Amino acid sequence: MTKYVNAVINDESGEGGLPVLEGTLGPQAVDIQSLYSRHGLLAYDPGYRSTASCKSAITFVDGDAGILAYRGYPIEQLAARSHFLEVAYLLMFGELPSAREAEGFREAVCQHNLLHEQVISFYRGFRRDAHPMAIMVGVVGALSAFYHDDMDIRDPEQRINAAIRLVAKMPTIAAASYTYSTGRPLRYPRNEYDYAANFMQMLFGMPNRDFVLDPVQARAMDCILILHADHEQNASTSTVRMAASSGANPFACIAAGIASLWGPAHGGANEEVVKMLSEIGSPENIPRTIARAKDKGDTFRLMGFGHRVYKNFDPRAKVIQANAREVLGHLGLENDPLMAVALELEAIALKDEYFIERKLYPNVDFYSGLLLRAMGIPTKMFTAVFAVARTAGWVSQWLELHNDATHGIDRPRQLYVGETLRDYPRDRRG
Ligand code: SDX
Repeated sequence: MTKYVNAVINDESGEGGLPVLEGTLGPQAVDIQSLYSRHGLLAYDPGYRSTASCKSAITFVDGDAGILAYRGYPIEQLAARSHFLEVAYLLMFGELPSAREAEGFREAVCQHNLLHEQVISFYRGFRRDAHPMAIMVGVVGALSAFYHDDMDIRDPEQRINAAIRLVAKMPTIAAASYTYSTGRPLRYPRNEYDYAANFMQMLFGMPNRDFVLDPVQARAMDCILILHADHEQNASTSTVRMAASSGANPFACIAAGIASLWGPAHGGANEEVVKMLSEIGSPENIPRTIARAKDKGDTFRLMGFGHRVYKNFDPRAKVIQANAREVLGHLGLENDPLMAVALELEAIALKDEYFIERKLYPNVDFYSGLLLRAMGIPTKMFTAVFAVARTAGWVSQWLELHNDATHGIDRPRQLYVGETLRDYPRDRRG
């Protein structure tokens, strides 16, 4: 017989009641920290659909209203008027930098964007066709071997240095994962370029000719990095926080985040979207794809659609769709067949009862793959680009966790459904 706890939210602080916490925006939270110690009860929430794992002041998402804001600034405004390094500073320190702070931050990033020459030798240990995300997990994790002994993460200054190192090195590591797979020599960062342009010259530059930067594509890359920089407690950020809570080395924590981001249900979706659109090939095949997505007996899902939090349009998807159209037009690809399929698929799905009922809208990944593909970035590198951007968010959340002196190790419990206690057979010898 199922028993029920009737939780009544009232104004009195009443004995035995659980306090209700108010944030500055978004839903209230019932503080259940004393639930087990005082009532011997656990809260059961697989997938954390109704769980606030922490207090955070970094990013606000309102899934019903389709709002995303970094430190209170709406993503649309930052995408239109800021640039990635300024957004990284905002996420890490909470305020937009002054001109002097911005210059100091840029100099610090430029000082740390090179890789130790021995780190570069790690790449030779990978097969040329290794997935860039596999390489990034390995190389970023290996950085902990270079910065473990002389780093005391209890020191706020050293924590900030580690965070800046990670933001600075991630484009170099990601670009090297790509150039290595093509047999080209690793490109070094050039500090005359801004962050996004530097990333592009490391991706596409050749040693035997000058790199010609396309400002439209560089601006589009900068915008992609801004849009993907943080997103409250998503799977990979929660992974970083979980690893950070044990006091693990920050490079190892970010490597764990990269591993989690790689999953097709999360950051790996942009790669899957382009594969899906390519398989659809032309608009007449869309009905069959939609039918598969709706078929409970088919594990296929419409990649780039749906979101755990957004039950409205993902605000990033709208910005990226506009950027994709601009870059495709700029490159003379306005009749790109995959874009046509994507637009038609979106139009049909948004009118279909199945998607409407479940509030399934295009998410950030639906158009990001098309934009990256138009910019010549290979499909395998899409999630690596996502990881470069999200490093700013991951390190900001890592800093926020460590700045909370009360934070202990994250250690969820379980609802045990296994065998009751039983004795090992007397006549048995293992
Ligand atoms: C990112 O969390 C973040 O913030 C992530 C991210 C970030 O910036 O960090 O925003 C980045 O990861 C975006 C999401 C990228 N993933 C995809 O595009 C993969 C496709 N989407 C789905 O796998 C899914 O929508 C999730 C994983 C994104 C969300 O899954 P949920 O919240 O667990 O949704 P659910 O499984 O509870 O689905 C509810 C219903 C189910 O149907 P019913 O059982 O109610 O009949 O909707 C259906 C699902 O079958 N459904 C889909 C679907 N997504 C959900 N059906 C078809 N196609 C889909 N894409």
